[in-house]
Amino acid sequence: MSSQLDKIVELQRRKELSLLGGGEKRIEAQHAKGKKTARERIALLLDPDSFEEFDCFVHHRCTNFGMEKKHFDGDGVVSGRGSINGRIVYVYAQDFTVNGGSLSKTMSEKICKVMDLAMKTGAPVIGLNDSGGARIQEGIDALAGYGEIFERNILASGVVPQISAIMGPCAGGAVYSPALTDFIFMVEGTSNMFLTGPAVVKSQTGEDVDQESLGGAAVHSQKSGVAQFAYPDEESLLEAIKKLLSFLPSNNMEKAPVKESSDSAVRLCPKLDSIIPESENKAYDMYQVINELVDEGDFFEIHKDFAQNIIVGFAHMGGESVGIVANKPAYMSGTLDINASRKAARFVRFCDAFNIPLLTLVDVPGFLPGTQQEYGAVISNGAKLLYAYGEATVPKITLTIRKAYGGAYIVMSSKHLRSDINYAWPSANIAVMGAKGAVGILKDITEEEYDSLFCNPYKAAERGYIEDVIQPSESRFRIIRALKSMKNKSQGLPAKKHDNLPL
Ligand code: HXC
Repeated sequence: MSSQLDKIVELQRRKELSLLGGGEKRIEAQHAKGKKTARERIALLLDPDSFEEFDCFVHHRCTNFGMEKKHFDGDGVVSGRGSINGRIVYVYAQDFTVNGGSLSKTMSEKICKVMDLAMKTGAPVIGLNDSGGARIQEGIDALAGYGEIFERNILASGVVPQISAIMGPCAGGAVYSPALTDFIFMVEGTSNMFLTGPAVVKSQTGEDVDQESLGGAAVHSQKSGVAQFAYPDEESLLEAIKKLLSFLPSNNMEKAPVKESSDSAVRLCPKLDSIIPESENKAYDMYQVINELVDEGDFFEIHKDFAQNIIVGFAHMGGESVGIVANKPAYMSGTLDINASRKAARFVRFCDAFNIPLLTLVDVPGFLPGTQQEYGAVISNGAKLLYAYGEATVPKITLTIRKAYGGAYIVMSSKHLRSDINYAWPSANIAVMGAKGAVGILKDITEEEYDSLFCNPYKAAERGYIEDVIQPSESRFRIIRALKSMKNKSQGLPAKKHDNLPL
């Protein structure tokens, strides 16, 4: 009989072995590709010594194609609980050194376990993906495993924040779990997401394309919009996840943590009094407006390189987390199109699901016209944003800075969509369209007549659609005061099973 001490030594030996994943050679190969191992990534992400690993002794149960002889402790995923800035999170990191991180049924059980714990306890889930997809030797078991993860992604949606990092290949059905989560981060140069790889593309369509051009970080963060973030390396990506979490509550029953700041809530912003150019066709920098308004000029942008005609992101104002949506006059004059509508709608719905008030900064000449937009269903896609604002019940504050024309006026958190407090600057023009367009249609009026009647905020204010026309320099103080007044806002929706937004 071995002594208690011997048993402890044996435990330590087994634990140490499990830390090696697929072994030193494969760890070296991982490093040679410029990638970190699953455990190294977790260590960078979490507070020091906060990680408690689960299931490090788990083995797969596959006996096909010699797999009974190919066992590694913990199989191809490292999973458990830890903290980020003292707040609990659940995490899993696919281990590419074990069978290319390919998903076995056992691995899916490990992932589902942390997702279930996150749901029971109301904590975010972070998945670090680096995997060759379904483990081919397992057949249907691997597919079942994916399906069970997807179902949990769906059930957790809107309950706890779900964050995906793509830190290597992500092929086949494996892309659908990240796609069901709230935010996707990618590493430039080493990560890919695609349904079918270049070889299958070539054989099915004849198209020649490499991995990077098919599904690299640039493709998804700029063109498809599948990923919200792209970072040059793993370290900066993991830092950004921590920053994102600082704006979010841990679950949908909580409010986001308050961030104390030395930036005064009554600070005036004199620069804003002179930011709007004389000519309404000239652009200005909307980021400068945002940076003036928010605490310490600290704005965390989401989807920075996708649909740049609209800006979305998080900031703190008076210490409170806010989701900001702003038209960007310096890009496509800030017109709304299919992608801008999709991008902003998803952001508005996220904020609403997680009790984050919305601040909307409006300068929009309208929707982008033309066949390309119509054929691409700008009607349904524009309706997504309309729907998102109209259903949102979090505090909604709108500041109209300059143009607010036509349907885009209504969409951008107007009074008519249950916005709570609507301000406008004296430079605001709220009308069906700009003067030039109107004069072209109503031939018996002059541009001057139209301008003096509509190109100001007072017609809307007369109707009570704008609570107040404010001096730009007072905007920060007025918005923070409005946000504070909304703290106990409570508003409902009619009883229904779920909505049917125009997907
Ligand atoms: C089993 C796999 C695997 C897989 C990789 N490996 N992918 N094992 N099932 N899906 C193993 C390799 O055999 C190898 O094992 C090790 O992982 C490392 O793989 P390499 O190919 O040597 O690495 P690399 O050259 O970096 O290429 C990585 C890769 C490539 C691009 C991911 O392995 C690849 O193309 N894999 C298949 C991708 C794919 O088509 N997946 C889709 C599956 S279907 P050894 O022992 O030699 O180290 C799917 C459907 C899911 O996912 C549907 C859900 C609804």
